[in-house]
Amino acid sequence: MLEVWLGDITTLSVAAIVNAANSSLLGGGGVDGAIHRAAGPKLLEECRGIGGCPTGEARITRGYRLPARHVIHTVGPVWKDGNAGEPELLASCYRQCLRLARENGVRSIAFPAISCGVYGFPADQACRIAVREVREFMAVNPIPERVIFVCFSDRMKGQYEAVLREGEC
Ligand code: AR6
Repeated sequence: MLEVWLGDITTLSVAAIVNAANSSLLGGGGVDGAIHRAAGPKLLEECRGIGGCPTGEARITRGYRLPARHVIHTVGPVWKDGNAGEPELLASCYRQCLRLARENGVRSIAFPAISCGVYGFPADQACRIAVREVREFMAVNPIPERVIFVCFSDRMKGQYEAVLREGEC
């Protein structure tokens, strides 16, 4: 099941929420800041022990005070001009998060629009990549069963809905 939802990802009672982190995994602004604030200081402590994460990869932690049991941290690419491997790196973020979900028995997962905030990835392209990767993964894997694209603006919600309607990849 694929859903689009408008609101704050930190409030969702799902098995895992995805964090659009930076490669230090030590917190930041945007959704990263919101997740660390809601999860509490133990999340930062666990992240410190991981020792960072390269762009395009993902790492899993507990969710601590969040309603979500796990946080899957991924590092999206910073948008330059689209010719620096950004689309492939963003696709890799989605695939790695989904693989970690499968390996950890995460049946429901919520994604923010990775790289679409301060990292500047164009929203229409990012939505297409997100929907394509999730569809491809779900077509051949039974877990996760439920994927929620969480949007923080009506504009972003409109982008996802348009891509889902087109049925394009
Ligand atoms: N719930 C859901 N979505 C949110 C929330 C929230 N609480 N807050 C923001 N968004 P960004 P990035 C949306 O900038 O572009 C951090 O400092 C937001 O509107 O959080 O991947 C990290 O530490 C946007 O659509 O992540 C990195 O340094 C989307 O989440 C850097 O930002 C992603 O915006 C990562 O940049």
